Amino acid sequence: MKQLEEKILAEGIVLSNTVLKVDSFINHQMDPVLMKEMGKEFARRFQHKKITKVLTIESSGIAPAIMTALELEVPMIFARKRKSLTLREGLITAKVYSFTKKEENEITVAEKFVSPNDQILIIDDFLANGQAALGLMEIVKQVGAKVAGIGIVIEKSFQDGRQRLNDAGIQVESLARIASLENGKVEFVKEEALAGGM
Ligand code: G4P
Repeated sequence: MKQLEEKILAEGIVLSNTVLKVDSFINHQMDPVLMKEMGKEFARRFQHKKITKVLTIESSGIAPAIMTALELEVPMIFARKRKSLTLREGLITAKVYSFTKKEENEITVAEKFVSPNDQILIIDDFLANGQAALGLMEIVKQVGAKVAGIGIVIEKSFQDGRQRLNDAGIQVESLARIASLENGKVEFVKEEALAGGM
């Protein structure tokens, strides 16, 4: 998505060969106009999938997920990383290990909001090693619902999350695909590579 790539080039800060800081429009301050456009784009890419719910994980997944859900006119649910005071029973949980943060979180969703008939679209801000997406898929599986697709705002294609999700046979749509962050420079996956690769 051109608009997103331009924003990344203008405002993204390469912190290391593996980490891109985008706190001026995604991870801290958020750009609502761009979020709205991203929601439209995800909705367009998954329009034939009969999505009944959008699922994400707090906190940075919430904004693109709600915009997508608004466009598709379906509810959005966010998995919690910390137990809620009011949500104690009927919880579905999955473990998510973060390689970046070297910690394991238990993520939870209330059973009552997901049913076996649901066609679920998973949305997240970053795809690195794919652990968050796999944890969300595990939750959907436990309910017996179907993962209709996965939408990612920024995919770091040099890490192995994309491969893991492809191996699971799921349609993955990333709005920006980063081939490299080496030498302090953002390089996107080239169109030709995309056409030949997947
Ligand atoms: P994975 O789910 O794909 O395996 O990713 P990983 O465990 O490595 O990521 C842990 C957290 O770090 C996630 O956010 C993820 O979105 C974020 N992250 C991963 N790579 C980058 C990066 O290059 N840049 C930025 N800005 N974030 C990255 P989180 O801890 O869940 O944070 P939040 O959603 O509460 O903001």
